[in-house]
Parts: sequence; C-alpha cells; structure tokens
Amino acid sequence: MAYSEPFRIKTVEKIYQSTEEERRKWIEESHFNMFYLRSDQVAIDLLSDSGTGAMSCEQWAELMLGDEAYAGSASYFKLEKAVKDVFGMPYFLPAHQGRGAENVLFATILQKGDMVVNNVHFDSTKAHIEYRNAIAKNCVIAESKMDDVYHPFKGNVDTEELERILKAKESVKLIFVTITCNNIGGQPVSIGNMREVYKIAHKFNIPVCYDAARFAENAYFIKTRESEFSDHSIREILQEMFRYCDLMVVSCKKDALANTGGFLAFRSEELYEQAKVYESFFEGLHSYGGLSGRDMGAMSVGIYESLDFDFLRSRNRQLEFLAGKLEQNGIPFMKPVGGHAIFINAGKFLPKVPVLEFPGQTLAVELYIRSGVRGLEFGSLPSGRDPKTGLNRIADAEYLRLCVPRRTYTDNHLNVVAESLISLYKERDSIKTGLEIVYEAPIMRYPTVRLKRVEDKKINRI
Ligand code: F0G
Repeated sequence: MAYSEPFRIKTVEKIYQSTEEERRKWIEESHFNMFYLRSDQVAIDLLSDSGTGAMSCEQWAELMLGDEAYAGSASYFKLEKAVKDVFGMPYFLPAHQGRGAENVLFATILQKGDMVVNNVHFDSTKAHIEYRNAIAKNCVIAESKMDDVYHPFKGNVDTEELERILKAKESVKLIFVTITCNNIGGQPVSIGNMREVYKIAHKFNIPVCYDAARFAENAYFIKTRESEFSDHSIREILQEMFRYCDLMVVSCKKDALANTGGFLAFRSEELYEQAKVYESFFEGLHSYGGLSGRDMGAMSVGIYESLDFDFLRSRNRQLEFLAGKLEQNGIPFMKPVGGHAIFINAGKFLPKVPVLEFPGQTLAVELYIRSGVRGLEFGSLPSGRDPKTGLNRIADAEYLRLCVPRRTYTDNHLNVVAESLISLYKERDSIKTGLEIVYEAPIMRYPTVRLKRVEDKKINRI
C-alpha cells in the first residue's frame, strides 16, 4: 500500500544554489565548523531537526491568538491543558527550550558528586551535570553499539547494569531515559524496558525522568514494533509510556513541532514547588518560562498535531527511503534507521582518517563541499574531554548525523543527499587525513570549535 504525506505545501522558501568553489571558501572561513556557516550557504540543511520543522496553518493562526500578558496568559493555560492531557502530568513549568528545562531541574535536584544514569545523555544534559561537578553515566544495551545488528529498541536501558550501579552507588539522584535516544541514532525505548526501569528505580527509591524530546517517534516505533501495542493509538501509547516516569523534561522543538520552547513536568507537587523557585530566576515566571504567549500557543497546537499516526508513518518512510538508497550502495550506517536521523558510520566510511582527526567532521566537510548538504558530527567531537584527565574522550563510534527536519524537505531533496553520499563513497580512498582542533571551549566544545585541515601526520593530537 502506498501512502503520501498527509499535508501539502502552502508557503515555500528559496534555496540559493551555490557552487562547489563558493562552498570550499565558506567552509574554510567557517573554521570547518558547520555551526559557523550561514544558512544561505547551505542547500539542504540536515544539521538538526530542532526548531527547523514547518509549522501548520493552525499553528500560525494560534500565533495571532498569543496572549502576551506578563502573568496568567491564556496561551499558558492552553499549553498547560495540552501537557496534562497528553502526558498525564499534573504539574508543569514552561521553559525557553529543552536545556532551559534541564538547567531548572538540575539546579533543583543535583549536588556535587551526585550521579545521573541515562541510556545515553544528550550533550546539553551531560554538560549541565558535569558543570555541577556531578557524574553523567550512560547505561544502554550493548546492541546500540553494533550498527549492523538489528534490534527493534536499541535505546533500551541495560537493566542489569542499572541494578548493579544502583547497588554500588548511593549517590544516584535520578534515572533518565532519553526517548528516542538521540546520540545513538534516534533509537527507541520499548514500554517493556520503561516498565522494568521504573520498577528497579522504585526499589531503590530513585525518581525516573524522561528526556522526551522525541516522544511521538518513540511511540510510533512502539506501535509498529512492540506487538502488545499494535492496536493502540499514539495517544494511548503515550499514556502508557508516561505512566513509568515521575517527571519529564522536553524540548518542544522536535516532535512537538514548535520552532522554540520546552517544559518540565512533575508528578510531585513538592518537587514542582522547589523547581518553581529556580524557574523564576533562570527562565522567567512560572506562567511563561522565557517564552512569548504566541510560542506557548504554537507549542500547545503542535503537541496535539504530533499524535498523528499518518504523519509519523510518512516521516518514518522518508527516512527509510534514504536508508534504502544507502544500504543498496553499501554505505555503513546505524540500523535500523532511527526516528529523526540517519547516522552514517564515518569511521567505517573513511577508515584511513584517524579517530582524533574526526572522521565524522571530515565527512561532514566533504559532503558539504560537494553538495551543500549540512550534517553534524556525532562522535568524539561532542564527547569532549574527560573533566578529570583533560584527555579527549573517544566515542564508541564516529558518526555523521543527517537529521531530517519535520514537514520541510521532499523525497527528492533526500535523493540528492543519497546521490551525493554515494558518489563520495566511491571516492573515499582518496580521503586520508582529517581535521585538527585549533580552538575549543572547556565545556560543550563542538558548536564553537575551530578546526583546520591536518597537514602533518606526525603531530600527537591526544
Ligand atoms: N534532549 C535531547 C534528547 C535533545 O536531542 C536535545 C536537543 C535536548 C535535550 C536539548 O533541547 O535544544 O531545546 O535545548 N537536541 C538538538 C539536536 C539540539 O540537534 O539534536 P534544546
């Protein structure tokens, strides 16, 4: 059965068709860092799915209804209703985006030396934890490190390891579950695993927090891969998923289809009241949290739109379309393809480029130069340095993430991405050297890092 996207295009944005010569110059001027490129220097922008989706006409209409009162805005109450209704959480605080919510949460809960266990921490979560001299520990099943091994829920927490950590460590403050798990390819977590994590956590009296930026994509995979839920609606699946957490932080820039915004939500009134204190001096008053009324309105509509199974199916098929083309041509990537992105294994794609010359970044640069496609390195660059030793942390794999924004690009755009990668793959043997760091920030280095091409292979870069 063939399905089309359940929407049509009403407004379009022009894309400047640059030349390879222009792009060579621009990437050099940008210190080989994708974050320094201007968006009009990019033809197909797969840097992030965060805030980059197209809003619906209902969301644009809601912007006009935005109530900009300083306190008690009608838009805030619309958002509160959506959060309570869809996620079943009684207490909530808006935030300007996901990391704003994380900042409020960790200020409320975390002390020096504490540990937070997660399937895999997203970079901003890890940075917030390490900034507070606490420990961010990953605990994901081994299959997540094997690109070619099929597992329907590679984002699952390793529950045996979790129990071992909890028995050994008294300082675990919070158990996070990131759904879907961004850093390993947007891989989902099963409800079976969520139930088990919740049971273990409560045995040790530790709260469970979902990092739920991609809640709807996770629910889609549960519906299509976890047989107990094949007849359930996305909404019913979400209700079941969120039964197994005590609190949540959400970036609404992803599945909630908003260009900005986020929130925290709690089951505990006590924790909510404590967090409200930090909210008021980090994010803003509890009824706006750094957002305009119109943004809260767009989020409230987006949360309901995210529940559309037909849309989630068409999105998944678009990613499968890209994955299929790469698979036919032997290009190595994380399988099965995740919810929001395809993770090309750049270590395998460019085996001659050493890890500390950043094969993922090198591949991102070469792809950009040849085709104007912007992707993002997900490997040792965002892994940063060990806070104690100062040495580079080597990631389990060096990926190039190609993230697909929601309702933004057509299959033909993705076809150009596939063709560009295929022609690059044929020339891969000619790429022998990568990039080295010229400047890096002490924490969360990758958005501001400056790099140059490696000329001298003898430099010791550890
Ligand atoms: N958690 C996850 C799993 C994320 O993917 C992100 C953002 C955040 C938290 C932070 O949310 O950006 O609203 O502050 N991910 C984006 C990305 C930036 O490109 O993957 P934020």
